[in-house]
Amino acid sequence: MDHFSATDHAMMARAIRLAGRGAYTTRPNPMVGCVIAHGDEVVGEGWHVRAGEAHAEVHALQQAGERAKGATVYVSLEPCAHTGRTGPCADALVAAGVSRVVAAMRDPFPQVDGAGFDKLQAAGIAVESGLMVGDARGLNRGYLSRQERGRPWVRIKLATSLDGRTALENGESKWISGEASRHDVQHWRARAGAILTGAGTVLADDPSLTVRLGDDTPFLPPLRVVLDPGLATVTRGRVREGDAPTLYIHAPDAKRPRGMTAQAATAPVKGGLFDLEAVLKLLAEREINEVQIEAGATLAGAFMAAGLVDEILLYVAPVLLGENARPMFDGLGITTMAERHHLRIVETRYIGHDVRLLLQPMHTG
Ligand SMILES: NC(=O)c1ccc[n+]([C@@H]2O[C@H](COP(=O)([O-])OP(=O)(O)OC[C@H]3O[C@@H](n4cnc5c(N)ncnc54)[C@H](OP(=O)(O)O)[C@@H]3O)[C@@H](O)[C@H]2O)c1
Repeated sequence: MDHFSATDHAMMARAIRLAGRGAYTTRPNPMVGCVIAHGDEVVGEGWHVRAGEAHAEVHALQQAGERAKGATVYVSLEPCAHTGRTGPCADALVAAGVSRVVAAMRDPFPQVDGAGFDKLQAAGIAVESGLMVGDARGLNRGYLSRQERGRPWVRIKLATSLDGRTALENGESKWISGEASRHDVQHWRARAGAILTGAGTVLADDPSLTVRLGDDTPFLPPLRVVLDPGLATVTRGRVREGDAPTLYIHAPDAKRPRGMTAQAATAPVKGGLFDLEAVLKLLAEREINEVQIEAGATLAGAFMAAGLVDEILLYVAPVLLGENARPMFDGLGITTMAERHHLRIVETRYIGHDVRLLLQPMHTG
């Protein structure tokens, strides 16, 4: 147990819930929520909606007005100390005369990283950090991964049969999962900065990889990324159509066709295959926090074998496809039980007639 009161916990839970409202819009910035209170009475609250616009603390301070004086501020991430696209929140909190700031965690962003807390403390404000840090880290797992590891959080989404198959031998896979699952995936896409697939899936399925939520919920269209060493698919496919941008990652020696309009970048190739760590680094440099892989067994297996997967989002349909169908992961090369991959089930849920499993490899914190 920590030393925080029940009111502190309730207020921070509220701030973290508010932060989550920015899941589809704040990137590349972190999601942040803020609640300003006197005891149990909330006098102001807000969340960061979009990069370049006001931070959560500013919204909450505006709502609180004069009542911010002497109040406790609950914020899901350390208030910023630098002038980026907006002014420093730590200064705004000092100017408003708040007396205590409770943060869920420190912001590892190099220009903040404790400097926000220092500013507040220097002004005589009581600062405490670490309340509900696990929830706060989970919320911003993509942003934190990019700041701390220099690569995005990697989620593989797969639809499988009950016998763990992802496509028939002839490549057909439409549709293994039900309509409710295919709709559910849209929400996971909307929170990702990029949806990544391989040349094999573009050729077999011609996916558009866009977000279709079916209502007017605002979202930022994720970048669509195709790993295509030889640029074999660049002139075809729905993945180039629509409003979302598309990035082709290809081998350094591949020739870009004349008149190619999509974005392109090169990544190093070893033995005919991309260096997937370099691919992820490239995406982090483009400020991608979370990448959702929607590829076939070749690429899914390559990411898994390289130990680069943080999360697996699995829709298991109650159908059997038999032993000739494609597996989930090619190339794991497991021959002894000692080599098996251990996963932790984080969540299970029925989605229509399917079961959705969220899993994390044991090495993921
Ligand atoms: N059930 C599902 O959730 C689901 C989802 C997506 C796809 N699918 C099915 O999966 C099948 C396609 O899977 P697939 O395995 O053929 O293709 P894939 O995994 O989508 O793409 C594989 C391609 O990616 C390229 N690649 C680039 N770097 C790589 C690396 N480091 N390691 C491995 N590959 C790399 C290779 O291109 P080069 O060949 O040019 O070297 C390779 O052919 C289709 O039948 C589709 O319907 C199922």
